[in-house]
Amino acid sequence: MKKAIVYASMTGNTETMANAVADGAKASGAEVILTTADSANEADVLTCDVIFLGSPAMGAEVLDDAMEAFFSKIESSLSGKKIGLFGSYDWGDGQWMRDWAARTAAAGAAVINGDGLICHLTSDDDALSECKKLGAQI
Ligand SMILES: Cc1cc2nc3c(=O)[nH]c(=O)nc-3n(C[C@H](O)[C@H](O)[C@H](O)COP(=O)(O)O)c2cc1C
Repeated sequence: MKKAIVYASMTGNTETMANAVADGAKASGAEVILTTADSANEADVLTCDVIFLGSPAMGAEVLDDAMEAFFSKIESSLSGKKIGLFGSYDWGDGQWMRDWAARTAAAGAAVINGDGLICHLTSDDDALSECKKLGAQI
């Protein structure tokens, strides 16, 4: 089982979530690719059995630019893939994540964690535990 965790993070909050998702994925016995969206290789990521994608809410409830660029590259190849979504936000109500989950489902993927895992700013222990559980899924 191979799992990829691809994330974008400006100030480290989504990165912290990504590291916890990766910990959960490793604990599940999977081979893990952990990479930023900037340096991710889309072909490698698409070979994985489960793909976890993380982005903070940016702009006005949109993805971080680096994740938008990466996601746009893989979007047309997501049919039948298992995708987990996560990210950090501040003042919004999670609209960026609901939109991302809908977009991912529209691409034909199965979003394995419903509307995505969102965390307000810095993850507390409960949020990190949710991230680890997410990484261990499937
Ligand atoms: C330019 C900018 C735009 C942002 N836009 C939103 C937004 O639309 N909705 C929201 O809830 N938070 C927004 N935020 C807050 C970030 O999502 C929040 O600080 C998050 O924890 C950053 O995650 P990171 O540390 O992984 O970069 C914005 C922050 C910045 C700097």
